[in-house]
Amino acid sequence: DNFADITSRAAIACHKHVGKNDKIIADKAATDSMRKNLNKLNINGEIVIGEGELDEAPMLYIGEKLGTGKGPSIDIAVDPLEGTNFAANNLPGALSVLAVSLKGNLFNAPETYMDKLAVGKDVPLDATDLDFSIEKNIKNIADSKNKNLDKVTACMLNRPRHKEIIDKLRELKVNVRLLSDGDVAGALLVTNEKHKVDIFLGVGGGPEGILAASALDAFNCKFQGRFLFKTDEDIKRAKNMGISDLNKKYNLNEIVRGDSIFCATGITSGDLVDGVKLEDNKFITETLVTHKNSTINIVKKEIPIT
Ligand code: FBP
Repeated sequence: DNFADITSRAAIACHKHVGKNDKIIADKAATDSMRKNLNKLNINGEIVIGEGELDEAPMLYIGEKLGTGKGPSIDIAVDPLEGTNFAANNLPGALSVLAVSLKGNLFNAPETYMDKLAVGKDVPLDATDLDFSIEKNIKNIADSKNKNLDKVTACMLNRPRHKEIIDKLRELKVNVRLLSDGDVAGALLVTNEKHKVDIFLGVGGGPEGILAASALDAFNCKFQGRFLFKTDEDIKRAKNMGISDLNKKYNLNEIVRGDSIFCATGITSGDLVDGVKLEDNKFITETLVTHKNSTINIVKKEIPIT
């Protein structure tokens, strides 16, 4: 509940900048709020996924210590504003996101791209793999769900880098859902049949992959990721973080271990949750909260305007 309060307040702080065509200010408002409120908690927290490293962005950087220091040692992954374009342009799907685990249990992801694959819990674990061809993954999903290929939906970010995958999917007559942004929410579309997405795939942000994995773990869904390192700088940073095998494919249980809590509050309304609403003298927020070992809930909060 404490953590849903943190993302709710960050969403509210960001909300007044929605539609103002300024990604930076909207992001800063959410980030400042998150830092302020995390610092009030009785935790010994450390950011493992944040807004870059100290020299790049002075906001919730990797390695930053948060909390009063009195309490459990926890790792924190944050994306105070996921979908900066959505917020700047008042489009659906902007979220404020965080995930926490006990110290050492969340993968320390470098700020690079990641090739991802997520499927729902109704598909056998060995039916899909980043190393399989698109065709094999889709056919196995269709077989396990007992439906034709033209009833399978694949979702990914709409980027030129996905052209080959999209062409292949179209050739197979698979339904393709393309997102302009927001691949944390995108990956979570496989968690519930109502979203009508059978597989989420393609390349997006590595940090976003770790955040999505925390929630997918609670939903018992499958997630795989492989970092993509382009520059020498990327490779150097990865090695400094202790990654020796640059081509390693990570399964969910290597990304998130043990219990973890994931919270995503809507800033603008989207597939997963509604955005911040103003009613009488209070804000109303909706947060998807997943707690690996206990609950998955949409939590509504009323926060008075101060
Ligand atoms: P921001 O909130 O930082 O703008 O990220 C939005 C996003 O769509 C992520 O969800 C995704 O992982 C990443 O951008 C993809 O990066 P790119 O736009 O470079 O393809």
